[in-house]
Amino acid sequence: MAIKRIAVLTSGGDAPGMNPAIRAVVRMSLALGLEVIGVERGYQGLMDADFHPLRLRDIGGILGRGGTILESARAEEFKTETGQRKALHNLNKAGIDGLIIIGGNGTHQGAYALSKLGFPLVTIPSTIDNDLCFTDVTLGVDTALNTVLDAIDKIRDTASAHQRAFLIETMGRNSGYLALMGGIAGGAEIILIPEAPLTPEQVLEGIQAQYALGKAHSIIIVAEGYKPGTQAVYAYLRAHEQECGFTVRMTILGHIQRGGRPTAAERILATRLAVAAVENLTAGHTGLMVGLVGNKIQLTDLAQVVSCHKGVDLQFFDLANTLEFGRDKMLRTAALPVADLPRRNGGGSKTMPRVPEEM
Ligand code: F6P
Repeated sequence: MAIKRIAVLTSGGDAPGMNPAIRAVVRMSLALGLEVIGVERGYQGLMDADFHPLRLRDIGGILGRGGTILESARAEEFKTETGQRKALHNLNKAGIDGLIIIGGNGTHQGAYALSKLGFPLVTIPSTIDNDLCFTDVTLGVDTALNTVLDAIDKIRDTASAHQRAFLIETMGRNSGYLALMGGIAGGAEIILIPEAPLTPEQVLEGIQAQYALGKAHSIIIVAEGYKPGTQAVYAYLRAHEQECGFTVRMTILGHIQRGGRPTAAERILATRLAVAAVENLTAGHTGLMVGLVGNKIQLTDLAQVVSCHKGVDLQFFDLANTLEFGRDKMLRTAALPVADLPRRNGGGSKTMPRVPEEM
């Protein structure tokens, strides 16, 4: 069936890059002579038939804006078949031939369910968590990382001025990606992620080592999914402040990581993914996610996307640790030596650069 009218929606946690993606979906569709419909508030809007046309002027000036002009929601009812069938009914009634869905993990579960009911659709991965397989990055991550980096740089200023150890908590749900990459980019002294959790005792040990080296601060970046949790480490360190050397403070970055102007890399990625989504949908390809793998657009079946769990690449964890503590004094995870933990890309610490032992 030829596609003449397509709809676009954003769902789940918003992410910088959603607006540039909407813009490119609309522009590309109009360039191909299609009609575009915007769905408000994600799957909730599908179930409520909250649709309106999107024309060129409706997307003016959104390229540099965070959030999403279509708004977003976490729609519980859409997890049920009743909710999905309601959405299907509304799509058919509105004469919509295909759908582009922009969102993260939960959104992809919903997209897969809808595509199994037979509705033509293509998805664009978008979440600051970067926890979707079959794409190196999701929309929102680059901007969120830059926000985290800005926070680390600023907190380091005050931490150094007061000789403090600072816990900084990032978002990421169950993924340590933002904390790990933010920690590397910002030169955090210790990185706490769910995939390789150090204990509070090890954190204290690391801080003491840094204090002994004469450092003016210690930045400990913590992913929100890390167990036993930021608060638990904070309480432990406060109780052992005398032994730390530094006084201890904590900052939870929270939703500032979800907002802000999309970076240049974000806008380019959003544009590439959106154009690929429209091209594939109109070519009759459906039930697919468009991702970026090795700087090339890759299409992956949604069945594969939803059944895959993406971990972080622990080579980066080794790298950060080695640079901070040296290879021999590296902080190891409580459960397993880091070298034995499962790695996303296989490989081990053999590929690690050599660094001097004394730091
Ligand atoms: O999935 C994006 C995300 O920001 C996660 O990092 C975080 O755990 C969650 O959403 C927060 O969700 P909410 O904004 O609904 O509290």
